[in-house]
Amino acid sequence: MKRLLIVHHTPSPALQALFEAVRAGMAAEGVEGVEVVARPALTASPVDVLEADGYVLGTPVNLGYLSGALKHFFDQVYYPCLEATARRPFAAYLHGNNDATGALRALESITTGLGWRAAAPPAVVTGEPSRDDLERCWELGAVTAASLAD
Ligand SMILES: Cc1cc2nc3c(=O)[nH]c(=O)nc-3n(C[C@H](O)[C@H](O)[C@H](O)COP(=O)(O)O)c2cc1C
Repeated sequence: MKRLLIVHHTPSPALQALFEAVRAGMAAEGVEGVEVVARPALTASPVDVLEADGYVLGTPVNLGYLSGALKHFFDQVYYPCLEATARRPFAAYLHGNNDATGALRALESITTGLGWRAAAPPAVVTGEPSRDDLERCWELGAVTAASLAD
């Protein structure tokens, strides 16, 4: 059984909707042998990361960057997980009101440093999530889980 870890900061209904869509996608029919573990970003530990086989990161865009909560997560796990988790797959969903450029740049830089490989392009949602946005998040969850499936 493979383990997929969702590390998320979910401070509003919009982010909760994205989180639920991603998690539903991970449970898609046909994806076998993948256990999903969800951890709020402020509680996720290096052990959670070491014990997982792939990752989905979820965050709002705050002040042109990742949320402080997801940044705190990366600060905690970066060096303890650097060697052991290289080449593992990841994906991310971000929610902002207008511009996610800085957050995407930071995510790219951090995950490149860790040596993680993108299982899917990031899903960026602006404003009230539409049906299409939720479908993209569902797909992101499904594709990332499928990348781990036997
Ligand atoms: C302090 C603060 C800074 C923010 N900075 C940005 C930003 O730089 N870019 C952006 O697109 N949205 C920004 N936002 C909007 C948040 O991303 C948004 O509030 C969050 O995703 C939750 O969405 P909701 O408020 O629609 O529920 C900011 C929000 C706050 C509170």
